[in-house]
Amino acid sequence: MTTGPVLELEHVDAGYGETQILRDVSLHVNEGEVVSLVGRNGAGKTTTLRSIMGIVEPTAGTITYHGEPIGHLDAVDTAKRGISLVPEERRIFPDLTVRENLELAAYGGASDRDGLSIGEVLDTFENLADRTNNAGSSLSGGEQQMLTIGRALVSGADLILLDEPTEGLAPYIVQDVVDAIRDLNERGITVMLVEQNVHVALELADRNYVLNQGEIVWNGRSRALEDDEDVLDTYLGITT
Ligand SMILES: Nc1ncnc2c1ncn2[C@@H]1O[C@H](COP(=O)(O)OP(=O)(O)OP(=O)(O)O)[C@@H](O)[C@H]1O
Ligand SMILES: [Mg+2]
Repeated sequence: MTTGPVLELEHVDAGYGETQILRDVSLHVNEGEVVSLVGRNGAGKTTTLRSIMGIVEPTAGTITYHGEPIGHLDAVDTAKRGISLVPEERRIFPDLTVRENLELAAYGGASDRDGLSIGEVLDTFENLADRTNNAGSSLSGGEQQMLTIGRALVSGADLILLDEPTEGLAPYIVQDVVDAIRDLNERGITVMLVEQNVHVALELADRNYVLNQGEIVWNGRSRALEDDEDVLDTYLGITT
């Protein structure tokens, strides 16, 4: 077992074609942490997750996972190592049942480790447990989000990258998703969380990184971010 961070980005540049989006991004996520990445629309949050996942290839810098370089791997090989990205668009199979969606995910993903079992995922997401034989399409938005996260978990990931998991959800469902993320973290899954909803990030995260125009401009604990009116106002559009 390696010590040190589960995930580390050092001086990463990345972008699309000629357009550079990320500039000198350095961050790390320790085992068992929830780390948030917050910032305005277009700041480069999704691009950061895509770079980690191997959907966008960094043009400079290094990305390591359990101490091994992964910056050159594509998304499939990155997933096999044990990282799972839950993208902004929830992706489930609407015509398959909840259980079938989970069973199918268990066949993909990390090749050399056991993730949570389907039973453990259903314990975590109680709403799903009652509906294992229902079609994916019959689930509410919040339940579909939980099923998407559940699919990442049974695939064997020990690090999940969540891209705006509460986007578009009703407030009372947001709390269910927050509780579920906390629960899976308590089961040993390390979480990197991208959020527009800063309150969700502050509630869940041990540490936070603030991204602005492709650069990390602040990092620290949630309590420090809560109290930093300048950072909240300037980079996150929150006036306190
Ligand atoms: N496939 C692409 N090709 C070219 N430019 C892109 C592509 N995807 C994103 N961009 C640009 O990269 C920049 C960062 O986008 P990104 O999606 O990473 O931001 P974000 O912080 O996730 O924003 P949001 O909060 O809206 O999801 C934006 O200027 C965006 O227009
Ligand atoms: Mg995004």
